[in-house]
Amino acid sequence: MGAARGSVSRATVVLALVLAAGWLAGCGGSGDDDRGSSPVRSTTTEPTVPARDFSRAGVAVIAHRGASAYAPEHTTAAYTLAVEQGADYLEQDVQLTADGELVVLHDPVLDRTARGPAASCTGPVSEKTVADLTSCDMGSWFNEAHPDLAEATFSSQRLLRLADVLDDYGDEVRYYIEIKAPDEQPGMVDALLEVLAEHGPEADDPVLPPVVVQSFSAEALRQIHERRPELPLVQLIPAVGTAPDGAALDGIAEYAVAIGPAKELVTRELVEAAAERCLDVHPYTVEDSSEMAGLLDLRVGGLFTNSPDVLRRLLPEQPLDTGLCPARATAGS
Ligand code: G3P
Ligand code: CA
Repeated sequence: MGAARGSVSRATVVLALVLAAGWLAGCGGSGDDDRGSSPVRSTTTEPTVPARDFSRAGVAVIAHRGASAYAPEHTTAAYTLAVEQGADYLEQDVQLTADGELVVLHDPVLDRTARGPAASCTGPVSEKTVADLTSCDMGSWFNEAHPDLAEATFSSQRLLRLADVLDDYGDEVRYYIEIKAPDEQPGMVDALLEVLAEHGPEADDPVLPPVVVQSFSAEALRQIHERRPELPLVQLIPAVGTAPDGAALDGIAEYAVAIGPAKELVTRELVEAAAERCLDVHPYTVEDSSEMAGLLDLRVGGLFTNSPDVLRRLLPEQPLDTGLCPARATAGS
C-alpha cells in the first residue's frame, strides 16, 4: 500500500492543461485541421468542455483486466504482463469495500476469483474491509481453471486497492477505470475522485489521456462530468439491446469522449455516427486477431482485449490515425 503522491491541485491542473492543449490541437481546433472536414455538427447539443480526440493518437490497446488471457485478472501478474506486452491502458473494474476503499475486482462477490478463509474471501466485497481481504489468494482460481497456463506464483497474488495500482505503476502506463455498480454502492464516485486526486498519474502525456473513466451508468458519468469536466469519460453500451441512435449519441457527446460498445453492436454506420460527434469507439472484448482486424478496418479508436500482445502485433499494419473525428465547434461559438 503506497503513500499518496503529489498534491491534488498539481495533478488536477496538469491534467486540465494537457487535455485543453490536446483539445485545442484536435477536436476543438478551428483553423488548422488538415482533413478538410466540416466543423459543423449535425446535432443541436454542443459539448460544454474540451474533449480529447482519441482518434488522432492511433488505436488504444486496452488490457481488459490486465493481460487476463495469460494471468489471473486484476492482479499484479496480469497488469505487469500487460505493460510488458505493450498495452496503452490497464483496465480496472472497481468495487467499494465496507470501509470505503476501492479495490480492483470485476465481480461484486468474491467467490469466483478469491480463495482463502470463507469469512474473508467469500460473499459480497461490500461487506468486507480491506483488512479482511488481505488474506485472499486471487490467483489459484486461474490455475484451477487453466492448468495449461498455471504458475505456482499466481497463488500468491493478492487483491489490490486501486490506490496501490496507481502508486505501483505510476506513469509507466495509463488507466481505464470502470465504475461497476454506482447505484448499489453509493459513495463510489466520491471515492474514485478522491483516489485519483491523491494517487493519479502526474505526468504530462501528449499521446493519450493518462486516466479514463468508463461506466454503463450514464448518471454516474454525468455526475463525474459535472464535478471533473476535464476527465475523459466513456459510455459503455451493453450487448443486450441495440446500438445507440443519433439522438442517444448526441446525449452521450454532452459528457463523454468515446463509447465502449459490446463488439457485436459495432458497425461502420455506428463508428461514423459516433465520429460525427467526435466520439471514439472502443469495443469490448476482442480476442481473435481476425475479429480485431475487422474492427480496425471499421476505424475503431481502441479495443479492449485480454491479449494485448495479439492486438499490439496487429497494429503496425493498421493506420495510426483513424482520422474520422471532425473539428468540433466550441460551446457557444
Ligand atoms: O469495461 C468494458 C467491459 O469490460 C465491460 O464488461 O463485464 O468485462 O466489465 P465487463
Ligand atoms: Ca470492465
